[in-house]
Amino acid sequence: MADGLPNNLHSQPHQLESTMSHKQELIRLFHSIATTNWDAAKKSATAIAAAEEERGHHVLASQLRSSLATHPPSATHGDLFSKSSTERPFTSTAISALNAPTPLSSVFLPRKLRDGMEAIISEHRHKDILFANGLNPRRHLLIHGPPGCGKSMAARAIATELGLPVYVVRLDAIVGAYLGQTASRLRELFSFAEASNCVLLIDEIDALGRSRGDLRDIGELDRVTISLMQELEHSNPRGLVVATSNVASTLDSALLRRFDTIFEFKSPSREGLTSFISHESLKRDIKLNPNTRRRALQSKSYADALRIIDNTQRETLLRKVQS
Ligand SMILES: Nc1ncnc2c1ncn2[C@@H]1O[C@H](COP(=O)(O)OP(=O)(O)OP(=O)(O)O)[C@@H](O)[C@H]1O
Ligand SMILES: [Mg+2]
Repeated sequence: MADGLPNNLHSQPHQLESTMSHKQELIRLFHSIATTNWDAAKKSATAIAAAEEERGHHVLASQLRSSLATHPPSATHGDLFSKSSTERPFTSTAISALNAPTPLSSVFLPRKLRDGMEAIISEHRHKDILFANGLNPRRHLLIHGPPGCGKSMAARAIATELGLPVYVVRLDAIVGAYLGQTASRLRELFSFAEASNCVLLIDEIDALGRSRGDLRDIGELDRVTISLMQELEHSNPRGLVVATSNVASTLDSALLRRFDTIFEFKSPSREGLTSFISHESLKRDIKLNPNTRRRALQSKSYADALRIIDNTQRETLLRKVQS
């Protein structure tokens, strides 16, 4: 009872189906305001907006969320997490803002995947129309595929196209040593996504199940997966939650079903690499020698090809300076 509330008012805020729990959430909100517990007040207000959404009051839910997102001039997203850092020190280190504008046009993608990404972006651009008709844009995405093929880049591109900030989740800061700690941190993480219009990027989500790596903790791992499933199912992110994985096959199939859409990225085709290499050469105004070009064309990923081009350009530049 850390915030001084009666125990019966500590139910999960997003499970507001009955009038009773709605009443309790209102009492909790008033109590939080009276005790100036702004984190708790924000949680209750977010839950009330989510409950209105669930009842089909989409316009009201959207208005409530917009009001909640109005920050006083000095407040930033950072404040949301750092303010409570004495109570919950993990939050200040669990996410970091990524500032790397990435237009979707800079991501090399097969037509089908590009269309898929554009459809998601369009849903978010026109979400008011969807809300007005009782629908939501797709908000929980999983992108899986081999390393260096653009999964994280695509998540950044969605954010850039929608003008949203990207917050990357540090999973090692989420996984806790004590029973239940990971689940409560996950709840807090998703509450953040409910309060903040952003792209929350959970890179290598499979690590959530593996990082503890101790078979004795298998029960806790199951609980973590269940918590993650519950968050994916019940949370109402204002923007998007994008998870990435190299090994989606190891993810629980019940967890996979909780994502609105799953994109499978593949290693680049030879045609894809050919145009990527030409594009990079043109952009940098360099001409690759045949050997470098051949090695770049044999890459397993765009990231590998980029490394080969970077190294060659570095060597050429330094050779020029030194001669
Ligand atoms: N499809 C792509 N189009 C253009 N550039 C790409 C693409 N894929 C990768 N790159 C380049 O490689 C870098 C690394 O890619 P990214 O981090 O998106 O890979 P990833 O699929 O998330 O890999 P990992 O599984 O290792 O996290 C990007 O910042 C970009 O410079
Ligand atoms: Mg990545």
